[in-house]
Amino acid sequence: MSHLLDVEDLVLHHRVPRTIADRVARRPARVVRAVDGVSLHVDRGELVALVGESGSGKSSTAQSILGLVTPSHGTVRIDGSAIEGLGARAMRPWRRRMQMVLQDPYGSLDPRCTVASIVEEPLLIHRLGGSAEQRRAKAVDALERAGLRPAETFLPRRPRELSGGQRQRVAIAAGLVLGPSLLIADEPASMLDVSVRAGVLGLLRELCDSGETGILLITHDLATVAHYADRLAVMYLGRIVEEGPTRTVLEAPAHPYTRALMSSVLHPDPRERGGRVVLGGDVPDPGARPDGCAFHPRCPLADDGCHTTDPALGPVDQRPAGHSAACLRPLPAGHTTTAPAGRTTTPDLAGRAETPDPVLWPDRRNHMPGGTAGTLPPADPGAVPDPLPGGTVMP
Ligand SMILES: Nc1ncnc2c1ncn2[C@@H]1O[C@H](COP(=O)(O)OP(=O)(O)OP(=O)(O)O)[C@@H](O)[C@H]1O
Ligand code: SF4
Ligand SMILES: [Mg+2]
Repeated sequence: MSHLLDVEDLVLHHRVPRTIADRVARRPARVVRAVDGVSLHVDRGELVALVGESGSGKSSTAQSILGLVTPSHGTVRIDGSAIEGLGARAMRPWRRRMQMVLQDPYGSLDPRCTVASIVEEPLLIHRLGGSAEQRRAKAVDALERAGLRPAETFLPRRPRELSGGQRQRVAIAAGLVLGPSLLIADEPASMLDVSVRAGVLGLLRELCDSGETGILLITHDLATVAHYADRLAVMYLGRIVEEGPTRTVLEAPAHPYTRALMSSVLHPDPRERGGRVVLGGDVPDPGARPDGCAFHPRCPLADDGCHTTDPALGPVDQRPAGHSAACLRPLPAGHTTTAPAGRTTTPDLAGRAETPDPVLWPDRRNHMPGGTAGTLPPADPGAVPDPLPGGTVMP
């Protein structure tokens, strides 16, 4: 059976115009490889999280899927039908089925419009919804589904009269009013405080659980996905470097980058703190992708082969089916984290609270959906030394 969303080898390269200095120095135009061969799928009733640092290409992937930018290469299928490269007219029926929720609830809503007109606008654009009364009823229904109750009291209000959480729910209601099968939520809760964030993400989870909608959730917050996502895809420099059921990826990350992202997650309980692997520096310039494994300049496990061989995403030993990573020297599944003798941080991460390794978070794992993923080999501290002990710094 075909997936709700099936993306294959998606590529988005931006050609950056040459500056006068480039012309004088006879430098060629730069090509930014924002998305560099991404394949992923989302099924109905499934919440898939795309995570990665800033600049890793998450939003570019979303925009390419939705046809907001024209991908350089690749296939995007909705329920088995290819939609990439369709013109505006041919794309219109597909747009109804795919909606996006943007990151910024303050910037994405027109401050002059009422909640009613914001939520009804997609119906007008797509000439759906029938009479004014029918459109209003659909808007009320969408607001209620987005958790704004009683919806009638919100209809005449403008964005400035709403809290941040309420604004984001209005944005979600505008995304829901057309009854999309696919919702792409790009950092939908990153600007909200923790309690409101949980409400918004819980709402997305409920939408998936209703079985009709599939969600691609874009975030840089791994703590978030641990609670809400069925599957996880970790993106680095335009590519997916690890993917699989959330539970198995977080219990036994195979890629050092995933492990470092996990290690930067805050944990409230000091008794559960272990050593952390510190990810310093920034994502390298996607216009100058390093040879070999693109992560090798930051990877403490890199050897000579990593400088020349570009690893493909594929199955990893000791992991259940569906868990893949792009690494020549994947981390063993049964390693344990050793606490560092003295904590080391890089300047950009100094000041954050000390954090644990989420491998040690049994309480959080209990919340993870997708528990049918399979059984991991038991950890054997004596047999498998941790190749990335706490305190490791990735430059
Ligand atoms: N139109 C463009 N022209 C040139 N480069 C671009 C363009 N759009 C995006 N990029 C570059 O592509 C890379 C990926 O950008 P993108 O916005 O997809 O990252 P992101 O993972 O969503 O980051 P964030 O978490 O900060 O939102 C960045 O290096 C960005 O500068
Ligand atoms: S392939 Fe090598 S450099 Fe890349 S993540 Fe794996 S160990 Fe590190
Ligand atoms: Mg983004």
